[in-house]
Amino acid sequence: MSAAAAHHELLTDVAVGKPMNQTLSRYWWPIALSSDFPTPDSDPRRITLLSRDFVAFRDTAGRIGLLDERCCHRSASLCLGRVQEGGIRCIYHGWKFDVEGRVLEIPTVKDPKVKDLRRQGSYPTREAGGLIWAYIGPAELAPAFPHHPFFDVPESHRFAEIVVASANFTRTIEGVLDSSHVGILHQDVASPEILNDLAPAIEVADTDYGFCYAALRQAVSAEGRPEIVARITAFALPTAVYVNASQKVLLISVPVHSDRTHFVMIFWDPDKALGVGEERERLRKFYGIDDAGMDYWGLGRDRHDLPGRPNRDNNYLQDRAAMRAGKTFSGMHRFIPEDFGVAASMGPIADQPRQNLVHSDIAIIKMRRLLAENAKQVAAGNEPAGLRPALYPASITGRIATDQPWTTLLKESFVAKNTAASEA
Ligand code: FES
Ligand SMILES: [Fe+2]
Repeated sequence: MSAAAAHHELLTDVAVGKPMNQTLSRYWWPIALSSDFPTPDSDPRRITLLSRDFVAFRDTAGRIGLLDERCCHRSASLCLGRVQEGGIRCIYHGWKFDVEGRVLEIPTVKDPKVKDLRRQGSYPTREAGGLIWAYIGPAELAPAFPHHPFFDVPESHRFAEIVVASANFTRTIEGVLDSSHVGILHQDVASPEILNDLAPAIEVADTDYGFCYAALRQAVSAEGRPEIVARITAFALPTAVYVNASQKVLLISVPVHSDRTHFVMIFWDPDKALGVGEERERLRKFYGIDDAGMDYWGLGRDRHDLPGRPNRDNNYLQDRAAMRAGKTFSGMHRFIPEDFGVAASMGPIADQPRQNLVHSDIAIIKMRRLLAENAKQVAAGNEPAGLRPALYPASITGRIATDQPWTTLLKESFVAKNTAASEA
């Protein structure tokens, strides 16, 4: 295997046993929305995370359980199970498990001690910020549960959505780390600054959590002086991207398996109730995760695999007639459907031609290196990077004079605050 092929496999392959699987298993992941389990004893759901299948459920007391999908008796799927009276009951022979995998009942065995000798694989979960989080790595290596600022805002000031990409997790990260495609792929809806300079200079600064990078575009101030618009995006290990927008946006690419990703989008604003009503609808529409995006464009978890959703055979539902009529550049629904159509079009990781990266891909190169290096470090027995969530990345857009370093914009950001905190 060539060095490039080995790097590609190390970076993208999340099959069980592979280094990237073992590395990413060492972090907490958002696996579902709280609203997926609306009430105690609501229906269980299958969760696939890092190529492994689980069942998640909310028990009678409201606690979330995450268990191996296959029943430890004779392997029936617990996704078929009944959630009732403090646990989930397998419908085959009625074994009942609590959220920690303890066997509560075996109706077909008289000796009550038998149940104490068996246990269903179970994993710690948390519920915070409107999301269900889980850790599926080795129990003795479980990191502290990270605390995100959006946990602390009122429910009406945040919302989260989970959308599906038929693409490797690195592809969805790349889509949001790549300022240079915004003025091309998303030109129907991109801002004037972006359209005015399609070849921004890209500069990167290392941080404790990963890196942040600035796309620097030429602009003119209100007084007619030349200036620079710096759009700063942050990447935090393992797969989080903080994008600048009118509100705060955190995008976490959750690897389902090597060719499928759940893209968790979290929007929040301490000062604005964006999680409800018109503001929520406006944001959903803006990103293309409105009803059209979730259903017709197949972003919804319960819609993605239905017939007629975007796929290679239907050219990702690209609308050539609308393109010819000059109504749209890409022929796809705005933003996320465009990104995921393109990401899926890159094909499975097992079939990747050589790429030709250029200056504007510098953040992509940096991210790939960081992820691969982290996997090597973990394989060598070191702790995964970025487990200390006190660090909080910056994503801002600002205007600077042509001779002003963009990093001065980070002054107010968490980068500076973190430095101060670690010195204190
Ligand atoms: S397979 Fe689940 S109870 Fe028998
Ligand atoms: Fe995009």
